[in-house]
Amino acid sequence: MDMIKIGVIGTGSISGMHLSAYRNNPQTTIYAVCDLNEERARAVATEYNVENVYTDYRELLANSEIDAVSICTWNNSHAEISIAALEAGKHVLVEKPLCRTVEEALQVQQAVEMSGKILQVGFVRRYDSNAQLLQTLVEQGEFGEIYYAKATTFRRLGNPGGWFSDIERSGGGPLIDIGVHVIDLCWYLMGRPNPVSVSANTYRKLGNRSNIKNLSFYKAADYDAANNTVEDLANALIRFENGASLMVDVSFTLHAKEDERSVRLYGDKGGFEIDPEIVLVKEQSDTIVNTYPQTDHKGFEFNSAFQNEINHFANNISNGSTPISPVQDGVTIMKILGAIYESAAKGEEVKL
Ligand SMILES: NC(=O)c1ccc[n+]([C@@H]2O[C@H](COP(=O)([O-])OP(=O)(O)OC[C@H]3O[C@@H](n4cnc5c(N)ncnc54)[C@H](O)[C@@H]3O)[C@@H](O)[C@H]2O)c1
Repeated sequence: MDMIKIGVIGTGSISGMHLSAYRNNPQTTIYAVCDLNEERARAVATEYNVENVYTDYRELLANSEIDAVSICTWNNSHAEISIAALEAGKHVLVEKPLCRTVEEALQVQQAVEMSGKILQVGFVRRYDSNAQLLQTLVEQGEFGEIYYAKATTFRRLGNPGGWFSDIERSGGGPLIDIGVHVIDLCWYLMGRPNPVSVSANTYRKLGNRSNIKNLSFYKAADYDAANNTVEDLANALIRFENGASLMVDVSFTLHAKEDERSVRLYGDKGGFEIDPEIVLVKEQSDTIVNTYPQTDHKGFEFNSAFQNEINHFANNISNGSTPISPVQDGVTIMKILGAIYESAAKGEEVKL
């Protein structure tokens, strides 16, 4: 089969993971890159030996040689570019979150259905090999019915600034940026139950704490501390139709002594943790036994998860198969995120 010609739209921080994974994939070739910032696009094109450089994504999409695109732009353009790409006959891998609102998500879903093209949502946590191992064990019934999950991602200092902290371009703060990963991971491992209600709180108490010295943190490609219109903490209790529930809390900044990451799921036959490291908890001979699977890495491993995500995208394109993170899942996650923001704004539970 011919090589799949890829266009990467948005050549900031995360695009490097896409570009290097495409370079490693024997089925794909990076045919074009695009960024509003021409200098950035050209630097990436030189690094990855890419012939075609654009500053307007519409021109990239008009290139009929291109089969598929990765969308690595700010969240405010995910829906618009996804729809335009699908309409131009391209397959789409769009970074998380799918977009900013449920309304946008439904428009993207409609475009997927009309085009018949593949849209894969970049829920990269699903593509980690430990997540896939746990998913297999869940499907085999090892943990019985999973009825509770609890996830925390606390950055004590980590508001990335720039577009991340501008609600117009991001759609929200730590909830939509890092909360989306663990909410999706739990929901996926719980068997994707139907969400029915959400009770949540968001706080804007500490600002972005750009005053802090002696401690570095992740910053947007165009870091700017001046504009901060997003929450710094969010928490939520999400109820599902099958009676299961998920409790989550996430922060960009908090007066915590250290960062904290934990993702734990509990079933009636056993439980497991995936963050900070994989461990299974079961009963054997009336004894509680913790098992540490011997895998290449104990916790989430960014590079291999991205490689798996890109390999899966390429395979779906060549086989016509459906992604394990399809647009419908992106829509449900947007419904959950939207309900969290709505519940926090109203100060009451929201039904979905
Ligand atoms: N999967 C993950 O773990 C992960 C990690 C970080 C970021 N992300 C997601 O990736 C996306 C990009 O994040 P980032 O950290 O790379 O941000 P970034 O600010 O480093 O880079 C974004 C780039 O997109 C460009 N851009 C914005 N709008 C554009 C448009 N309409 N056309 C062309 N270029 C455009 C900007 O100029 C910038 O160079 C976001 O949606 C973010 O949520 C995912």
